[in-house]
Amino acid sequence: MSTKRSPKLNLVVAVCNNGGIGKDGQLPWRLKKDMEFFKKITTQTKDNGKQNAVVMGRKTWLSIPEKFRPLANRINIILSTTIDPFDGVYVAKSLDEAITMVTGNGVLADKVEGVHIIGGSSVYKAALESDFACRIYLTRVLAEFDCDTFLPEFNQNVFKKIDNCEDVPKGKMNDKNIDFVFEVYDKMFL
Ligand SMILES: NC(=O)c1ccc[n+]([C@@H]2O[C@H](COP(=O)([O-])OP(=O)(O)OC[C@H]3O[C@@H](n4cnc5c(N)ncnc54)[C@H](OP(=O)(O)O)[C@@H]3O)[C@@H](O)[C@H]2O)c1
Repeated sequence: MSTKRSPKLNLVVAVCNNGGIGKDGQLPWRLKKDMEFFKKITTQTKDNGKQNAVVMGRKTWLSIPEKFRPLANRINIILSTTIDPFDGVYVAKSLDEAITMVTGNGVLADKVEGVHIIGGSSVYKAALESDFACRIYLTRVLAEFDCDTFLPEFNQNVFKKIDNCEDVPKGKMNDKNIDFVFEVYDKMFL
């Protein structure tokens, strides 16, 4: 692995001790501080004239309560082979097609600053296995939950943990007696 492609993909995911990320189409937990972090990291831009793209699978889109979707102040792109674009929401048939929309001569290229991959399982997998530069903002939920959807394993020799990343709050957090920590991993290239 000696080349990397732009843009850098930012995966944003919360995962519990048994690798789970979802249950029955929902998050297995409700962590207010993590939701606030998710909102901040996916929304903030350096250029006020641009927004970040949030790229998600169709089921993750459906998991967002109707009143909160599309996710505000972000360009929402759903990956799906079965639905058409609607109400200002973009649809791409693959991760590559979504990236084409936001780069080069793509329809969204002038509008998008960062690209955030927000799940679910197969969308994370496509991003992790791609040759795009990649950062993972990982909320490690320090408990076990009954889950039916899991984060694909990522190679710890390729993704290195970044300590003292200024983007994330430090130390153990707690919400409703659930401990969690924010971690950041960057994909290393030779
Ligand atoms: N903990 C977290 O951080 C987190 C984050 C996100 C989601 N979740 C949870 O995860 C669950 C939903 O995730 P999921 O893995 O079941 O489903 P998902 O990835 O959100 O959606 C799956 C669907 O997305 C489309 N899709 C996925 N990858 C694609 C690709 N590469 N190209 C084209 N289309 C693609 C397909 O739609 P078509 O069938 O229409 O082709 C597929 O059936 C929920 O429980 C949710 O709450 C958790």
